[in-house]
Amino acid sequence: MRPAVQTDPSGGRRSAPPEGTYELVVVANRLPVDRVTEDDGSVRWQQSPGGLVTAMQSVMSGEDGAWVGWSGDPGPAPEPFDEGGMHLHAVGLSEQEVEDHYEGFSNETLWPLYHDVIVPPRFRRRWFDGYRTVNRRFAEVAASLAAPGATVWVHDYQLQLVPAMLRQLRPDVQIGWFNHIPFPGVELFAQLPWRRAVVEGLLGADLLGFQRKADADNFLRVCRRLLGLRTRGGTVDVPGPDESVRVVRASAFPISIDASGLAELSREPEVIERSRQIRRDLGDPEWLLLGVDRLDYTKGIRHRLKAYEELLSDGTLSPPQAVLVQVATPSRERVTAYVQLREQVEVTVGRANGDYGHLGRPAIHYLHQSYPRKEMAAMFLAADVMLVTPLRDGMNLVAKEYVTCRSDEGGALVLSEFTGAAGELDRAYICNPHDIDGLKATIRHAMAADPTEKRRRMRAMRRRVAEYDVQRWADDFLQALQTAPERP
Ligand code: ADP
Ligand code: G6P
Repeated sequence: MRPAVQTDPSGGRRSAPPEGTYELVVVANRLPVDRVTEDDGSVRWQQSPGGLVTAMQSVMSGEDGAWVGWSGDPGPAPEPFDEGGMHLHAVGLSEQEVEDHYEGFSNETLWPLYHDVIVPPRFRRRWFDGYRTVNRRFAEVAASLAAPGATVWVHDYQLQLVPAMLRQLRPDVQIGWFNHIPFPGVELFAQLPWRRAVVEGLLGADLLGFQRKADADNFLRVCRRLLGLRTRGGTVDVPGPDESVRVVRASAFPISIDASGLAELSREPEVIERSRQIRRDLGDPEWLLLGVDRLDYTKGIRHRLKAYEELLSDGTLSPPQAVLVQVATPSRERVTAYVQLREQVEVTVGRANGDYGHLGRPAIHYLHQSYPRKEMAAMFLAADVMLVTPLRDGMNLVAKEYVTCRSDEGGALVLSEFTGAAGELDRAYICNPHDIDGLKATIRHAMAADPTEKRRRMRAMRRRVAEYDVQRWADDFLQALQTAPERP
């Protein structure tokens, strides 16, 4: 990471930033913690859901930077505060802005559009107006916190207009943006009525980071085909005043996890004992299968449950010898597609348990809750087969967490080919979740595989995640941001 006191290009030391400003400002829709208001009016903070927070929290803790984000609750912004070694600056969103910017444009328009239109995106002009207003507010807060010449790192699809807005306010800062989710092909992106505004917003950055090269290529193609801009290699020429040209780079930086921290946690005797206890509580099954996801339609939970139900019905698996634990973190609970997904998942789990469970021994344990990191590590350590079956996922950190926790080299990872993680963890048991017969065959294959072969696969995947961890990802991104654009 960038040191708090910078060295200027001529080699001299820059002094500490002016009071109340920071050399590094991270801007994300969410703070790493959510404000929860209890029924009695008391307020507490809890970790926010999702991979962005998991990754950026490990990068930022101990850094002298600021994190700008929403507190997850409608209403005025709380005063800035410090938490886990981070300086947090909240941006307030009204109830209407939560509906328009967050639930509407971010999660009913962009999220499905960027995830292969698994559900149809909805285009509403009012939502985009809210998105623009909120993006401007984020840009203003970031501008007020950035020291002269600071680095501002903007994150994800909720804030695509921020780079250009910030550049207007603060032309002196270096602006990076990283997309945690896929970037769609031009044919899908072209549906967006505000496509030009979004691309122009992004092109305010110096460096645009994507999970996979394919995502960066999609963005470059959008620039060429929809805006008629010139692209060369991984760069876009952005025309400025008086025939000047600014060069914006777009490339892949696959995100990762705090591998050494998690591996260490998973080796703690308390975690190992807890993993044994979990198996005992489940009746010491021969096969423990596990799914861990936000309850999101992109995660392929329905496809996974369908395959599992069929494996029960054809007798391949029979409880209590086999058990599936599905952890589904509550997510975006007021958005229609998420309400529907929850109903479908809960009906399926109820049916499977009615048809195949026994007294005190359900076929599927469904947990609609969040857990501390230690408990997650114990679950990963307990699971014989990890089912990661998204229909589309930018990366999927759960897959990387599972292999990292398996210092015993046990377990098997079934991984969808439609995740960013599949590009790195190619020794997983790769599946196409749309193909239910193929998914069943892959699960059977993972279970029946020779233990030596399984260990070899696990070792290779662990090595990859340990080598390219979240710190390396952040260093690579920030270093690329500091270097002048190369003209190909
Ligand atoms: P996404 O960012 O789409 O939610 P990822 O798999 O990339 O998907 O990241 C999810 C993160 O949330 C992981 O760090 C995972 O361990 C964590 N997580 C998922 N479910 C839970 C849960 N029920 N309790 C606590 N953490 C969870
Ligand atoms: C994914 C997105 C993040 C988002 C997270 C949780 O990881 O990439 O930007 O924060 O999901 O979703 P939420 O809507 O609860 O913030």
